[in-house]
Amino acid sequence: MVETTEAQPSIGRLVVIGIGLIGGSLALALRAAGACREVIGVARRQKTCEQAVALGIVDRAVTGLGEVLPELESGDVIFVAVPTLAVEQVFADLRDKLPAGVTVTDGASVKGSVIAAAEKVWGRVPEFLVPGHPIAGSEKSGVTAARDDLYIAHRIIVTPVEDTDAGHLQRVVQMWQATGAEVLNMPVREHDEVLAATSHLPHVIAFGLVDTLAHDAENENIFRYAAGGFRDFTRIASSDPVMWRDIMLANRDAILKSIDLYSANLDSLRAAIATGDSDRLMGVFTRAKAARDHFTKMLAKKAYTEPMQAQEVTFIAQPGESVSGELRVPGDKSMSHRSIMLGSLAEGVTEIEGFLQGEDALATLQAFRDMGVVIEGPVDGRVTVHGVGLHGLQAPPGPLYVGNSGTAMRLFAGLLAGQAFDVTLTGDESLSKRPMNRVADPLREMGAEIETGPEGRPPLMIKGGARLHGIDYKLPMASAQVKSCVLLAGLYADGETSSTEPAPTRDHTERMLTGFGYEVQRDGARATLCGGGRLAGGRIDVPADISSATFFMVAAAIAPGSDLLLEHVGVNPTRDGAINILRLMGADIELLNRREVGGEPVADIRVRHAPLKGIRIPEEQVPLAIDEFPALFVAAACAEGETVLTGAEELRVKESDRIRAMADGLEVLGVDAEPTPDGIVIRGAGEGPAFGGGTVDSLGDHRIAMAFAVASLRARDTIRILHCANVATSFPNFAELANRAGLKLQEV
Ligand code: S3P
Repeated sequence: MVETTEAQPSIGRLVVIGIGLIGGSLALALRAAGACREVIGVARRQKTCEQAVALGIVDRAVTGLGEVLPELESGDVIFVAVPTLAVEQVFADLRDKLPAGVTVTDGASVKGSVIAAAEKVWGRVPEFLVPGHPIAGSEKSGVTAARDDLYIAHRIIVTPVEDTDAGHLQRVVQMWQATGAEVLNMPVREHDEVLAATSHLPHVIAFGLVDTLAHDAENENIFRYAAGGFRDFTRIASSDPVMWRDIMLANRDAILKSIDLYSANLDSLRAAIATGDSDRLMGVFTRAKAARDHFTKMLAKKAYTEPMQAQEVTFIAQPGESVSGELRVPGDKSMSHRSIMLGSLAEGVTEIEGFLQGEDALATLQAFRDMGVVIEGPVDGRVTVHGVGLHGLQAPPGPLYVGNSGTAMRLFAGLLAGQAFDVTLTGDESLSKRPMNRVADPLREMGAEIETGPEGRPPLMIKGGARLHGIDYKLPMASAQVKSCVLLAGLYADGETSSTEPAPTRDHTERMLTGFGYEVQRDGARATLCGGGRLAGGRIDVPADISSATFFMVAAAIAPGSDLLLEHVGVNPTRDGAINILRLMGADIELLNRREVGGEPVADIRVRHAPLKGIRIPEEQVPLAIDEFPALFVAAACAEGETVLTGAEELRVKESDRIRAMADGLEVLGVDAEPTPDGIVIRGAGEGPAFGGGTVDSLGDHRIAMAFAVASLRARDTIRILHCANVATSFPNFAELANRAGLKLQEV
């Protein structure tokens, strides 16, 4: 015989009043978990009692509550699982007969009516009553529907009131946790409003729709032709009618509010169909689709608007050999953000191809949807933006969340400073640490009212209705984000706005504005535009991102035997620092099939392995390769001799402090790397393995994570890279492409 260790019961006896799906499933789950001493069922009908015992749901069952109450003692729990409007009668049966220390909780879908019932019966909410509501269920009902896994990974909302005793509350929380559920606390009123919108309204609609179709005399056979859409939409109309009648009556006011809101929306959809208003229909459908897709991801726990840190991804990279083949890396991140921004502010339709479907660019897209812009897609990198014009944005319903992206936050700051409405910009944990005064300062100079969080960090609170005037701004640092922010605010400013940069930085904003028909004068380091013009929508072909391509360029450069072709890469001269630096180190890089696409230079890049040598990196190349240094440091670690980087203090304020993050990781892998305030000195290995193995921390920085993955090609042992979820911000299919090219990379 096998010895089993008994789980420690978290409660004494459980009495379930009403042994249906909800009550029966709790009984089964607690029995399975060994979380209570005994389960006693109470049901109105003798047959239900017999079934509950026969199905192993309860230890015993009775038809009268009065029979069991005298047996109960402190530590026992009564779970009331009857239809909402029957709760009051159960409370009345309990009054004056409940032994001290027994906890009473319930599972009704409306909490206000439970509180009202308690007040009616006891004259107050008794301290032993813990109102609760499991957000789990099914259209099935009755004792035979009970399942022991119904609550696993589901939410239970408890709505304790002021008089609820902490000990009783804790007992109920532990009871639910023992079923595998997550327990949340919520005020009664909020619970009832949220549930009215998310559960009660859908039931009204489903019951109402099926009833409408069932009574349509002209369509007697209608159900014969009903298929998936009908089935998916109306499943809940076969739920228990008594239960749902009770819920409607018990939560009347909140449900009426939800029905009215929905009716108004339905009327406006009707009007759009009647008048053939295709834009309005697309607006509603695309927003709804985005929201539903978002919800689907939330259910799968991978929503892009949720903090990325919520999920953990680790890369495990085995030593590899070489890389080869032909690859197209995803679309350029900088251009993807800008294409949505300018497309939204343009008049007419903008068709985008090659859009990066990474989390950051998707967050930008969602932000414009929240400001009323109709955006179709993305589907395979294709997006259609129905521009609203420079003054057509609407106030968003809440703060705009821009994820991990400094570019989005800083460019948004510029274009939102000139709007008529207030708006708040927030981001994830990494973005929340990054400096924003670099944009807040010039915007304030232009007349914007803008507040930052402590020490100039996010969130940014931008006041609407400010009157902006042009400025002649000299950038204190070489930053395309700051330059772009000032120019975008300039679209809304009186007069001329100029921005002069200390060194050339990426010029996608200037090029794209020109492409949208907005005049930008470029005179050396200075770019100037005049406010009050118009943008005209058009076509944008976003090339593959050279920043993403760099990981593969370095991979091919360092791994003997490699020969790789990277297709359709943007090679704008303000972005080609990595190519220049790798060539100076001796890399064999060829630019083939050079062409211009939509105002941006594009080429296919062929890289073959060649021995690399250490160099002193020319400072003028730094802004042109600003995002590529994590990968370039890996190349330097494989080169013969010393590589010295200076003038790169900006790396310290990227998604992480990239000098520190890389120096720490390189040290773990046995590389001789010495950080300096504005750069790093790396003494490379030359031939043979350049890295040992070990565990490095990417600090949630996508580019640090990918750089160390590439290092595995020249590693002696396995490299584990922690906190890699943010790779999805810029390169969602990195692991897949890396493995296709020849890396041995696993995501766990
Ligand atoms: C970007 C500019 C750069 C770069 C960032 C994207 C842009 O930042 O690091 O990834 O799209 O304008 P800075 O302008 O702050 O250097």
